[in-house]
Amino acid sequence: MSITIAPSILSADFGEMSEEIHRVHQAGCSWIHLDVMDGSFVQPITFGAVAMNSFKKPAGALFDAHLMVVNPERHIEDFVKAGADSITVHAEATAHLHFVIQQIKKHGVKAAVAINPGTPLTVLDWVYPMLDMVLLMSVNPGWGGQKFIPTIYHKIECLAQILRERGLSIPIQVDGGVNQETIGKIVAAGATNLVAGSAVFGNASSSEGYHENIQKLLKSANMD
Ligand code: DX5
Ligand code: ZN
Repeated sequence: MSITIAPSILSADFGEMSEEIHRVHQAGCSWIHLDVMDGSFVQPITFGAVAMNSFKKPAGALFDAHLMVVNPERHIEDFVKAGADSITVHAEATAHLHFVIQQIKKHGVKAAVAINPGTPLTVLDWVYPMLDMVLLMSVNPGWGGQKFIPTIYHKIECLAQILRERGLSIPIQVDGGVNQETIGKIVAAGATNLVAGSAVFGNASSSEGYHENIQKLLKSANMD
């Protein structure tokens, strides 16, 4: 599987979101990672489906909505209408994981489940066949710019092993602390979809700058 960098717009300029999305798309990324936070599942509040609906999606881009919200089953339809092509819900945020995945699939968009660093992989045991992707959080969700939690390298290996044993070839996405130092080991452990916020948007503000940051990540990904 080839490597995908999914820029997290949490580190972008919220005052010009559509332009920022356009810039990272120009910089070579088709997956755009949108961090939705509700002030309850996680402390901060970012934006919801109404704001997301106003973000312009470049042709060929994919909106990857990471819902850090409680009871996500209440909001699936709104995020589909707002342009989500892939929806990730947290296993910890719902008592109805199977049901919410069914809802996502019913709308014909990709379904993924995220688990926090302290959550065991076993919560996925009975939903694996329904999933298009698994997201392993490598920081505690809520904020950009945190340090990668090193125990997650092994968690990625364990998940990769489970997926192999089950004959599933869905991508493992990793979110939090992905940068030039960590990306090589993350990819070596078996992840192929890497969310990166500060490593893409930090210290740059143009399409060229983002492109440079993405190239550095891809280069480091292939070195270890
Ligand atoms: C954290 C978010 C991440 C965040 C990653 O809760 O889910 O997507 O933006 O930021 P970095 O790449 O800076 O760790
Ligand atoms: Zn995220």
